[in-house]
Amino acid sequence: MNKIVITYSFTGNNGKLAKALAEKLNAELLIVKEKNKRSVLTILLDTVFNRTPKIEDIVKDLDQEDQLIFVAPVWFGKIASPLRPVFSFLKNKTIPYVIISLSAGADGINPNLEKEASKSTGKAPLKTINLLIKDLLPVEPKPSRQMLDAYRLTDQDTEFLVEKLLYDFKL
Ligand SMILES: Cc1cc2nc3c(=O)[nH]c(=O)nc-3n(C[C@H](O)[C@H](O)[C@H](O)COP(=O)(O)O)c2cc1C
Repeated sequence: MNKIVITYSFTGNNGKLAKALAEKLNAELLIVKEKNKRSVLTILLDTVFNRTPKIEDIVKDLDQEDQLIFVAPVWFGKIASPLRPVFSFLKNKTIPYVIISLSAGADGINPNLEKEASKSTGKAPLKTINLLIKDLLPVEPKPSRQMLDAYRLTDQDTEFLVEKLLYDFKL
């Protein structure tokens, strides 16, 4: 089985994690790139109107022998919208996949990721893993929502999370 890491990242955290994970797994890394400029406003509009943004073509070579590992942020409780075109491509195919998201976690785990991915691809992910920035920081003083959103993954955090994915989550 050929593992392929597919990542989208707006501010770099999930991109950094995906790159390190792909290196450890010796897996190919595919980066989802958008055709249009992204902003917090377009994140909000995609969420409210359930829009699917345009991305550069990356899906042409995927086949049944692959296992896809998606690594992308959560926005307003949903998987980042630039993955939607790839999810649509997976419909009516039997390619197994895993969802990983490193998100802020100000309100705890995002509970709807598995349901959303299942609906968008037509089948459930093998695993859904929501890593939280909140868990990387000290409990006291309680980090603010702003601090969590602004946090950028260090090399040490990245190494820690990759180990966690490999050994705790058995990727
Ligand atoms: C507009 C917006 C909405 C967000 N919504 C959530 C959310 O619902 N749940 C959560 O845990 N994190 C949320 N976050 C935090 C991001 O998931 C987090 O900062 C993530 O690490 C960003 O990943 P990236 O650097 O790969 O883009 C949100 C961030 C932004 C910018």
